[in-house]
Amino acid sequence: MKAIVVYESLWGNTAAVARAIAEGIGPGAQALSTAQATGVAIAGADLLVVGAPVLGFRLPTDKMLKTIGASAGKERVAPDLTQPSMRSWLDALPKGSGRSAAFETRFRLSPGGATGAIARGLESAGFSQMAKAQRFIVKGKYGPLRDGELVRAKAWGAELAKAMGARA
Ligand SMILES: Cc1cc2nc3c(=O)[nH]c(=O)nc-3n(C[C@H](O)[C@H](O)[C@H](O)COP(=O)(O)O)c2cc1C
Repeated sequence: MKAIVVYESLWGNTAAVARAIAEGIGPGAQALSTAQATGVAIAGADLLVVGAPVLGFRLPTDKMLKTIGASAGKERVAPDLTQPSMRSWLDALPKGSGRSAAFETRFRLSPGGATGAIARGLESAGFSQMAKAQRFIVKGKYGPLRDGELVRAKAWGAELAKAMGARA
């Protein structure tokens, strides 16, 4: 099974969750940023697990990222803005026929979310959802993740791999 976990991550929390999910899926699963997850890298994927942070109550928009970039010097923790937004990655996603699952990192209590937009993008490229979207919680604006979230992410990865195996 070719499984790839794709993430957008400005401050590293979503990247850490993505790596834990890939570890849980098992050997051969890779965690790639939107910059690394090129059409060639993901070609033929059986499973795409895709995640992003919730910023301003939604999947970050390019306008939002521009604003963050413009005030990057003022942010307490410098954001990594070298990767394309998840929105633009989803827009450019080549058609596929694998399965998919979505996740987000976020505050415990906040309106809105990112996984709805991620799931719609994946579905419209042909990657049907195989699992309920997951939320991984941070303790502060820039993280860190709540205790136990990486363990939970790894366990979710293992569950996804098991469900894929059961289908095969
Ligand atoms: C500018 C900014 C806006 C945020 N807006 C929200 C929000 O509306 N809802 C929420 O649940 N979390 C919000 N967060 C928390 C982020 O979703 C959280 O820190 C996330 O894990 C960041 O992911 P990353 O480290 O992978 O970039 C916000 C954080 C920042 C820095």
